[in-house]
Amino acid sequence: MFDILEKESLNANVTRMTIAAPLIARKAQAGQFVIVRACGQSERIPLTIADSDADAGTIRIIYQIVGAGTMELDTLKTGQELCDLAGPLGKATETDGLRRVCVVGGGVGCAIAYPVAKKLYQQGAAVYSIIGFRHKDAVILQDAFEKVSAQSVLMTDDGSGGEKGFVTHALKRLILEGNPLDHVFAVGPLVMMKSVCEITKQYGIPTTVSMNPIMIDGTGMCGGCRLTVGGETRFACVDGPDFDGHLVDFDEVIRRNRMYSAFEQTRREEICRLFQKEC
Ligand code: FES
Repeated sequence: MFDILEKESLNANVTRMTIAAPLIARKAQAGQFVIVRACGQSERIPLTIADSDADAGTIRIIYQIVGAGTMELDTLKTGQELCDLAGPLGKATETDGLRRVCVVGGGVGCAIAYPVAKKLYQQGAAVYSIIGFRHKDAVILQDAFEKVSAQSVLMTDDGSGGEKGFVTHALKRLILEGNPLDHVFAVGPLVMMKSVCEITKQYGIPTTVSMNPIMIDGTGMCGGCRLTVGGETRFACVDGPDFDGHLVDFDEVIRRNRMYSAFEQTRREEICRLFQKEC
């Protein structure tokens, strides 16, 4: 069904899978996601389509091995198949008319930011990419971003790779250098996206963020992915995942994400025991 054609480690905790999914590959656009279920009893994991090839009939997903679901997914090997793969879901990222754009990616969020940067590059926009990681060993997709960017900056928290500091430092510098930006796209940890939006709001630069709250069905029925945008309830799976970052209530999303951490820890320990892994 959904054969795993290739599996490679991008770093110690991040894996890229190429999957045979011709119908999804034919329709996939930047910003859309799939819901993956590794095995029969596995949880459903929303993962952005990091790349797609309609001719080859393949899509790529990139995931960080961080919770029970991704640990289970990562037990599958090349040649095995996924139990379920639904998509493409969500709305495609809107890039029409944009000419000078900064794409900011944080950690594994770079897997979501990259297809947006690539799409902008293909439509002739000048792309300034800023990617940030904790440490040089966590860096992913640096070459890929450089290929589609007029200017690409790598930041690490500890200065072990690229420049020392956060993506917000590089963004502020880019703005203060007088680079006129039509738009900023930011994808990564919630705190990072919130900080990016605080800066761009100050300078009046429209900003899109990609939200990845807890999802279950991915089709707008369960309400699990709800968030408040501009004072109204929105569902990330059908109204997003992209939203106007200046309108998102980040504090609420951060609170909601923490609600399930105890359950997630228990489930993670179960999976560790099942596959005899260290947690
Ligand atoms: Fe259920 Fe969005 S995941 S409504």
